[in-house]
Amino acid sequence: MIEFRDVTKRFDDGTTAVNGLDLVVEAGTITVFVGPSGCGKTTSLRMVNRMIDPTSGTVLVDGRDVLGVDPPTLRRGIGYVIQQAGLFPHRTVLDNVATVPLLTGWTRRKARQRAAELLELVGLPAELGRRYPVQLSGGQQQRVGVARALAADPPVLLMDEPFSAVDPVVREGLQDELLRLQAELDKTIVFVTHDIDEAIRIGEKVAVMRTGGFLAQYAPPAELLTRPADDFVASFVGKDRGYRRLSFVDSSGVEVAEVPTIAEGAPVESSSDWRLVVDADKRPQGWVAPDSSSVPGGSLYEVGASIRGALDAALSSPSGLGVAVDAEGRLAGVVTARQVLDVIESRRG
Ligand SMILES: Nc1ncnc2c1ncn2[C@@H]1O[C@H](COP(=O)(O)OP(=O)(O)O)[C@@H](O)[C@H]1O
Ligand SMILES: [Mg+2]
Repeated sequence: MIEFRDVTKRFDDGTTAVNGLDLVVEAGTITVFVGPSGCGKTTSLRMVNRMIDPTSGTVLVDGRDVLGVDPPTLRRGIGYVIQQAGLFPHRTVLDNVATVPLLTGWTRRKARQRAAELLELVGLPAELGRRYPVQLSGGQQQRVGVARALAADPPVLLMDEPFSAVDPVVREGLQDELLRLQAELDKTIVFVTHDIDEAIRIGEKVAVMRTGGFLAQYAPPAELLTRPADDFVASFVGKDRGYRRLSFVDSSGVEVAEVPTIAEGAPVESSSDWRLVVDADKRPQGWVAPDSSSVPGGSLYEVGASIRGALDAALSSPSGLGVAVDAEGRLAGVVTARQVLDVIESRRG
């Protein structure tokens, strides 16, 4: 557990970067600090591993005031990942990752073996270990940065905008990878970003900060979206807020209707209706249009999953009907976007 108790950081030039921060990061969770540039995210993070010491107040890691622990000892238990990965350019990828185990006194052979395991853990092929950082893509470099931070198996991981320099598609992949890793490793992670979508996607709790080093709200993502504490938080979580919020509303209130089906491979007769093609297990395969042509696509959603999925399914379907399936992927029925929107309307207010 990491605790900030009334922590303030004022730099020599008079800038107050962090102002009376009170916050507890629970062990084994991913907590995200989010806010516009200059609001004090990095400064807050660096006070955990003593790259910066507070002007007043106390930072505790596992109940111990960090000022009472010498920085090298403290940092052995705290992994640190930064934007652009911060890799040593003149060392191979494998040696970059092996750096920390070597520093803690492991033999070169054992450290390299551990580094190879870590590359695999973060989803990189072993042969990349022989390359130099410049020979990797941005996304691969960030994975190496994560592997290096995990090398000493620290219970705490600090990540400062680790994915901000990679393009959005790669970034989503890295976010998924982090969530998968965390399910396995159960670290206490503090993750800094300026991107509210990223914060909502990966944070179990999210601290929204605003310029001047103030904490505006600290809450689970669903609560930020449904009950923003003030106008700043409301505008920061954005104008798509209503749509994002749907991710947290389940679709059980949307009643599904029957739809005409055609068995896969069966002859197609003309009809004025759209018909859903299903296989022998009743799993949807695509649509047949009224003119008897086959139309692939139309997204599925699982009954009871988020209502955003139901809406996406209806809006993206060529027939205008979103297809609901059960946990085994078998057809449960169909919904229209109108139906979904009516349910959303009825839940509002
Ligand atoms: N070493 C420093 N000396 C003076 N001011 C600083 C220093 N580091 C950061 N600041 C200022 O403190 C504020 C918070 O910075 P920072 O924590 O880096 O914000 P963020 O990570 O949210 O972008 C900013 O106004 C920044 O300019
Ligand atoms: Mg920063």
